[in-house]
Amino acid sequence: MVDSSKTVSVIGAGYVGLTTAVLLAQAGHTVYLIEKNPERLKTIQSGKSFFYELGIDALLEPVISSQKLIATDSYKESIPNSSVVFSCVGTPDNPDGSSNLDYVFAAAEETAKFLNNGCIYVQKSTVPVGTGEHVKTAMQKNGKQFIYLSNPEFLREGTAIADSLWFDRIVVGGDDPTAVDVVINLYKELESRRDEIAKVGYIEPVNNSTGKYIATNLNSAELIKVTANAFLALKISFANSIAKLADRAEADINDVMDAVGADQRIGRAFLNAGRGYGGGCFPKDVSGLISSANQFGVELQIMTAASDLNESMPGYIVNKVKNLVPELHTKKCAVLGLAFKAGTSDARKSPGVKIANLLQEIGARVSAYDPKANREATEDLHSQVNIMTSLDDTVTGADVVLVATNWPEFVNFNLRELTAKINGKVFVDCMNAFDIDEVEFVGLKYIGVGRNGKSIDGKH
Ligand code: NAD
Ligand code: UGA
Repeated sequence: MVDSSKTVSVIGAGYVGLTTAVLLAQAGHTVYLIEKNPERLKTIQSGKSFFYELGIDALLEPVISSQKLIATDSYKESIPNSSVVFSCVGTPDNPDGSSNLDYVFAAAEETAKFLNNGCIYVQKSTVPVGTGEHVKTAMQKNGKQFIYLSNPEFLREGTAIADSLWFDRIVVGGDDPTAVDVVINLYKELESRRDEIAKVGYIEPVNNSTGKYIATNLNSAELIKVTANAFLALKISFANSIAKLADRAEADINDVMDAVGADQRIGRAFLNAGRGYGGGCFPKDVSGLISSANQFGVELQIMTAASDLNESMPGYIVNKVKNLVPELHTKKCAVLGLAFKAGTSDARKSPGVKIANLLQEIGARVSAYDPKANREATEDLHSQVNIMTSLDDTVTGADVVLVATNWPEFVNFNLRELTAKINGKVFVDCMNAFDIDEVEFVGLKYIGVGRNGKSIDGKH
């Protein structure tokens, strides 16, 4: 058998970089993982992830022990040995909403100092269309010969490993077909070994289908990524705008979207109305797209509307509670779920955090709990919000319980037991994850988003 194993570097050990590095090492490559944050680096060197993600620790520990994955802060140690370098550094938003590309340029320029001629530099970070050409120019100042490609990432937090092994598509953009093939082959190999790798991470196989491989030019690859995220965000905001109408018109948004989404041209995914999208990606990718389009003289009003609608959702829910609960400012509220979604400890731009803060601003006494994200949520939570370490203590004596993230331990509540523990009997389903009849049957008053009309079980 031909040994196709390579030495590669991955820059940035965040959600994307760590996942990429771990999987490439599990596929048999020698991987240098370059991380400049000393705390993150130390944790990874000890064989553990700094964030919660299903399967990642089980996959990481063996490759750290066997030194297939070498976590370091040194470009000098890593880059000269590597034939392929993946850049996975963060691209946060600037205060004006545009993409902050400082880390992207810093990583590229540092790499350019050490790379060998012929090295393939692969941009996995999400960047505005046109960025690659500028990064390439900045790297060329060192006078080295390298190939620059864009290979955007589509994984979701919470299902990062499964998404990376059972991907819908791999997109590689650039003008060197041989280099494009090298990168595509890395993914083909990973795909061919996915069952054995998944087993190590205790990840359930998803299906038997194989992903698509799509080669494009550089700018198209960059635009594919931001367009995909923008469209998903648009679907959510569309569902939320119709949910506001459903509230007024006494329709049930879940029933509406089940039927609308049954049309295969539309699809049901990402039409779940609720407290809106959060996280380290959709909010900043939408604002980054609006800003980069502006630079090309294009106004993406549709995305501005989606973003504004999304911003309004936490306040919309808090207003509903205010209208229903007299003297809310004297009440005790329990906010369950501070992660931006279930399955992750990530609390960046989390709607649950926003809801807790808004309630606190009204004057309510707010207790908040998340099974994994308490620590990460402290950064954005108002200091007056009590962060709780027990679900039971959070809900006991509460006047209003708000479920902001659909962690299984919340969605599978024993509602009767919950009712016995709480005072005020108001139950706010910020994710539309509960059956209204079941909630009301135990004597709770239900508040959802776009569910003022009673759902009639339509399964025949
Ligand atoms: P992150 O902020 O969690 O991780 C980035 C890491 O890079 C940090 O640990 C940081 O310390 C490190 N870093 C920054 N500059 C560095 C440098 N010069 N050298 C070495 N390390 C450096 O980010 P993330 O969530 O993993 O996202 C990375 C990129 O991937 C972003 O562009 C994001 O939009 C995109 N993306 C993220 C996801 C996701 O689910 N998080 C999915 C797809 C794409
Ligand atoms: C998203 C995309 O789904 C990934 O494909 C992409 O790679 C990633 O962004 C990225 O570029 O970083 P992620 O942010 O991990 O992944 O999470 P999602 O599952 O997409 O959820 C995003 C937010 O939308 C969450 O707050 C979630 O609760 C919310 N959401 C999702 C809804 O409000 N309604 C829905 O129907 C679906």
